[in-house]
Amino acid sequence: MSNRYIPRREFLSKLATAGLGFLISSTIGNIQSGWSSSEGYDIVIGSDSHIDLGQESTASMESFVTDMNQNLRPKEIFCLGDLLHNATVEEYKTYREFRDRLNAPVWECPGNHDHDPKLSNEENLVRFRELLDYDNHFYSHLLGNNLFILLADERQKNLPGGLSYAGYMEPEQVAWFEDTLKMNQDKNIIVLSHQSAKGTTVMSEQSNMQMHPTNELERILNTYRVDLWFSAHAHSGFDHKSAHADMFVKKGPTTFVQVASISKRYNTNRTQSRFISLVEGTKEVLIRSRDHDVQTFDESLDAVVSLNYPVSLTATAVDLSEQLVTTWGWMKESAANRLQYW
Ligand SMILES: [Fe+2]
Repeated sequence: MSNRYIPRREFLSKLATAGLGFLISSTIGNIQSGWSSSEGYDIVIGSDSHIDLGQESTASMESFVTDMNQNLRPKEIFCLGDLLHNATVEEYKTYREFRDRLNAPVWECPGNHDHDPKLSNEENLVRFRELLDYDNHFYSHLLGNNLFILLADERQKNLPGGLSYAGYMEPEQVAWFEDTLKMNQDKNIIVLSHQSAKGTTVMSEQSNMQMHPTNELERILNTYRVDLWFSAHAHSGFDHKSAHADMFVKKGPTTFVQVASISKRYNTNRTQSRFISLVEGTKEVLIRSRDHDVQTFDESLDAVVSLNYPVSLTATAVDLSEQLVTTWGWMKESAANRLQYW
């Protein structure tokens, strides 16, 4: 199932270095000058497509795919779980058909709805890996000096008492996450997950909206720097202005961002995602809010957040054995303390 990685590697090897000269100052705030997407390395972070073969979910995904290919043309796309609604093989097949039409590599993590209730936790994770071509359901993705860490909701059966759709990381993943952060503090760190870290963005005070175990994640976040953490699950649309202040939350060195949803389920009523742009030599990252149905950004929601280091899209990385790896490589960890580069 590893043939999917070949086109990604070929794709990445063809990428040109992003342009220079885009300067914005502020931590979180409105953009202060005009923006041309040609100046940055553009990435779209979407979530919650909830494909269930029904008309709404497939129409919303169609809107997303069309906007990606015709207008935004990002270099990479992340989808933060609840890709499917019931996680059946048929739903995976439909999702794959949409994904295969996207003109950019797509990186996913599993959410609660990517667990078929008829299967065990492990059976669901096997299904995720096999049907989406991953060697592991949690992994990291390196772009120059920027490390994207994708966390997985590994448990929907046998959640701790009182929880029913919260996220849960098993001890192996928690240890891997901590090790990965520890080893990569010389890079910008961007975490992506379905559920949110406790007490950060909208609705994350509720246990069922959080990634667990919360005490372990809080300890890790208090020990190692994370620059940006994107999460979803809440389906809060950008037009929900009263909640927008809770969609960008700065806590310590970390800016937490709520992604909204591709599906219109749960009264979202619009098909939305976040668009970010990394620019060579700058710490500032532009984050925009996209409505895919009307194919426009809501400029009033443009935000700029700061990373720890200026982006270097041509930086090399060093693995644990101190061997240099390729500039545009991506890496995955199949076990704690073991890195493999592609
Ligand atoms: Fe969810």
